[in-house]
Amino acid sequence: MSLNQRILSRDTPGGRVPRKKRNALDLAFAVYHRLTQPSGDAILTLLSPGPRTSQPATFPSRVATLLLTASLATTPLLAQQPGLAPTRAQHAMVACVQRDACDVGVAILKQGGNAVDAAVAVGFALAVTYPFAGNLGGGGFMLIRDKHGRSHFLDYREKAPAAATRDMYLDAQGNIVPGRSLVGYLASGVPGSVAGLTYAQSHFGKLTLAEDMAPAIKLATEGFVLSAPEATMLQTRNVARYPISAHIYQRDGNFYKEGETFRQPLLAATLTAISKDPTTFYKGAMAKQIAAFEKAGGGLITANDLAAYEVKDRTPIKGRYRGFDVITSPPPSSGGIILVEILNILSGYDLNHLGGIPTPDRSTAQVHIITEAFRRAYKDRSDYLGDPDFNTLPLKQMANKKYAAAWRSSIDPAKPTLSASLVRPAGFMPPPPDAAPHQESTETTHFSIVDKDGNAVSSTTTLNGGFGSGVTVEGLGFLMNNEMDDFTSKIGVPNMFGLIQSSANAIAPGKRPLSAMTPTIVTTHGHWYRRGKLSLVLGSPGGSTIITTVASDLISIIDNHLNIQQAADAPRFHHQYLPDRLDLEKKFPVPPAEELKAMGYTINRLAVADEKNPGVWGDSELIAIDPKTHELLGGHDSRRSFGKAAGY
Ligand code: DON
Repeated sequence: MSLNQRILSRDTPGGRVPRKKRNALDLAFAVYHRLTQPSGDAILTLLSPGPRTSQPATFPSRVATLLLTASLATTPLLAQQPGLAPTRAQHAMVACVQRDACDVGVAILKQGGNAVDAAVAVGFALAVTYPFAGNLGGGGFMLIRDKHGRSHFLDYREKAPAAATRDMYLDAQGNIVPGRSLVGYLASGVPGSVAGLTYAQSHFGKLTLAEDMAPAIKLATEGFVLSAPEATMLQTRNVARYPISAHIYQRDGNFYKEGETFRQPLLAATLTAISKDPTTFYKGAMAKQIAAFEKAGGGLITANDLAAYEVKDRTPIKGRYRGFDVITSPPPSSGGIILVEILNILSGYDLNHLGGIPTPDRSTAQVHIITEAFRRAYKDRSDYLGDPDFNTLPLKQMANKKYAAAWRSSIDPAKPTLSASLVRPAGFMPPPPDAAPHQESTETTHFSIVDKDGNAVSSTTTLNGGFGSGVTVEGLGFLMNNEMDDFTSKIGVPNMFGLIQSSANAIAPGKRPLSAMTPTIVTTHGHWYRRGKLSLVLGSPGGSTIITTVASDLISIIDNHLNIQQAADAPRFHHQYLPDRLDLEKKFPVPPAEELKAMGYTINRLAVADEKNPGVWGDSELIAIDPKTHELLGGHDSRRSFGKAAGY
């Protein structure tokens, strides 16, 4: 039996992985485990180049390797913070990055709206109170699961304008023009948010559009009080470049301060017009105004592009993990299929007891195994994914459990596989299209909602970068996205984040750029009497880190039994195949970080917090349903101090 097989145990549908019978090596693990607890100092001694007093001298080297692996598993954990408690509610819950938008959602639910009404209201409210990422000029995804178990994935991702071309961000020499896909008019795709939110309301809401939009209009008209971090966010250089934006968000240089009320009368008028006639944005007076503004600024979006925009109601991706059904995001999100691939690989391990030893949340051994699953799944993401309306994607093959098992058997329990040496298991996947680089930015927002009837919404929306392209539409008061940057700009050129994707994601007219946004809902699987019970609503922003954040949250809750607030606050780790490095948040505990480094990982610890490197990423907005009491448990990521989970 290989080393790997010793750590592997079989996936069991519908429950936790059974402990295998212990053999001599497992006993050695256990003895060593006791020796090294509780301080973990012995582990560091073992890893240090000096005399290894704590390693039993008589063990053969293979056993020593196993012991090393076991010792790595036992590091005391900082992630499972005991003080963190979920927000509790009896009927309904909203978890959202911005407190006023969260309150809007709760008010709509109390008013008799369902989860979709609340989502529409929160979506529009975020366009007012969180211009960083909430939007009218961007796009998003909304995963809906109703109380009967029917699910819909609303895709209102931006589309490339008809005049977009594959090489539009290259100069005459074929080099990428820095910033062209990120800043200014040319960076924008045709916005989808207004279409998506109004589609959701008209197909799945209970209240009227005017009722769902009233709170956002009020917030724009009367304003909301800025907290210190919100006031600071408005000072970004992204909007200072454009006078209309600088006027609205920065008062022409007289920056807003903490405690001041931020009012947006133009945006209020725009929202009012949409609430009266939502077709105005795509086919009416507003569409003409947007198109004229784009033309004057050298943008590509025309009235025809706006008129041609359509929401797609897609079938979600479905996976299964340890007795739960995972309902998640299909392409053009890469999130769902990569999440399922990660979970399929991990389902062969007893993550909480690798090698038969307790390996809690953020322990070295667990982080190692999960990271190796991330690495493998992201390799597939790099090579295969793009807009499903423009490509035939090998989704079935990617979700194949035998393929996951083959990936699993390539994981060395004691050390990382270098990405450069990672070989895809043969016989499962078609040849990939040409690999191509891709840049993915990091400002988006997620919210989760459950109503009193058990309808659930998980929605992620984005302008792509913070404040999108920086361009505010004149007279309408909303920012345009820079989502075009999510396309592949040029084959073979590494981007800012080093994220690699295939030519399946090349720019083409009418095409949607590949996304990582991963709205996800988890329900119980199993015997008929427990099947289909709503368990979790998950999601986060964070660009390429979204998928690993959602996967980590899910594992923290399902495998490691963290409560929903502990999961939201657990320090994050991320690997995306290329660049070959393990990103760790600044609060990631030091001992496992050191041990992972000693195992051979290149560690990128985001230790310093500044504008470019906040030391953290993502924003988990989570809801769980207590299976016994049916109480709703909310988890809001405390990295974002201005949001909350709230309910009634
Ligand atoms: O769709 C995507 O994957 C990116 N445009 C999302 C960007 C993002 O998450 C930024 N988050 N903080």
